[in-house]
Amino acid sequence: MHLLLIGSGGREHAMAWKLAQSEKVTRVSVAPGNPGMQLEDKVECLSIDPTDIEALAQFAVSESVHLTIVGPEAPLVAGVVDVFTDKGLRIFGPRQQAAQLEGSKAFAKDFMARHQIPTAAYATFNTVEPAIAFIEEQGAPIVIKADGLAAGKGVVVAQTTEEACDAVKSMLDGQFGDASANVVIEQFLAGEEASFIAVVSGRSCIPLASSQDHKARDEGDKGPNTGGMGAYSPAPVVTDSVHAHVVTDILQPTIDALADDGMPFTGFLYVGLMIDNEGQARVVEYNVRLGDPETQPLMMRMESDLLDLLDHAVNGTLTEADVQWHDGSSIGVVLAAGEYPAGSSKDKPITGIAEADSLGCKVFHAGTKLNGDQLVTAGGRVLCVTAVAGSLKEAKQLAESGAECIQWEGCRYRSDIGYKAIDR
Ligand code: AMP
Ligand code: GLY
Repeated sequence: MHLLLIGSGGREHAMAWKLAQSEKVTRVSVAPGNPGMQLEDKVECLSIDPTDIEALAQFAVSESVHLTIVGPEAPLVAGVVDVFTDKGLRIFGPRQQAAQLEGSKAFAKDFMARHQIPTAAYATFNTVEPAIAFIEEQGAPIVIKADGLAAGKGVVVAQTTEEACDAVKSMLDGQFGDASANVVIEQFLAGEEASFIAVVSGRSCIPLASSQDHKARDEGDKGPNTGGMGAYSPAPVVTDSVHAHVVTDILQPTIDALADDGMPFTGFLYVGLMIDNEGQARVVEYNVRLGDPETQPLMMRMESDLLDLLDHAVNGTLTEADVQWHDGSSIGVVLAAGEYPAGSSKDKPITGIAEADSLGCKVFHAGTKLNGDQLVTAGGRVLCVTAVAGSLKEAKQLAESGAECIQWEGCRYRSDIGYKAIDR
């Protein structure tokens, strides 16, 4: 079977690597992919722009692609699934309407309020003065969010009302263009975060193993927010009882409400949770795709066939699917460019990946490119060094030995990924 995967990051490298392991798969074509994927058995990169939906559909038709899988949110929010489905092409992901759960925070908050799904109290504004009056009334800490997609940069957790007011002014002043024409102002939630991701098909779902990422750039969860500096699975904060509570009170009500509202969901549904000391979970955000970097350790732990699972979801037979996980733990440590998440240095030659692989790590590429034969950085999150072992501590040691082998000018990574879970 020939598969088409849309995307080019570390998440998509891990998905391509995992899909290619299926005995049923003969070829995984990735649009546009990255140099790391090109080295994988059965994987090829295509020079098709991931936002050129017509070109992607044309490829799927001409190559008789068995299933198309969408990595990032942008093509989903742009309606790639609607176009493919209308053409009779098999694709795994939600339609445009349901993708608004990630595409618009105001949409997601209104949806949760309407369906009594636990989340932070909020209000939405499109002008500065009432927003500021609301902040003064609520006090700090308080959270300001751009409504639309802002590449993970549209959230400010403000410790003071001044900081909150400044964030509102810059956002409504066009900091993220149309994406910040509206802002959501939200109650601050205390607790520990976890990523709860499920494969969904209408009213059926199969939760994947729990995971947790580290969004702050620096050790001790300090410094600016990033797309994620590392992740691990499982997340011990998701105990059996938290898991049951999340499925009963959040996941199942969400997918039932989507179906009731006339926008049944097929795809990966990522629920970002804040779990308080009593084990009560509330939704911080929905994403309509797998997490990055959560996917890298998740794919390392998944023992069953990923394609089988996705095929069952698309065929409406998800209740017959089965997912198996390695009993131990997995971890992914992100190696980022020096200035990340601010400016992004490029073209620095990278060494040591083969040495990391030979230790038993798996190195997934994200921001890499080839200058001739030389692998160099392309900025942002460059690599994710991933390992699986009997315990999180062992997996962490292995991934860190791998990370130590890899070098380029300005390479940075956190050496405390997973500390909360290890301390528990
Ligand atoms: P989001 O893009 O909505 O996931 O927000 C990015 C990050 O901001 C989250 O992962 C949290 O760490 C933090 N955050 C968002 N909303 C809240 C909230 N209501 N209370 C506390 N922290 C939050
Ligand atoms: N790691 C967080 C995300 O993928 O949104």
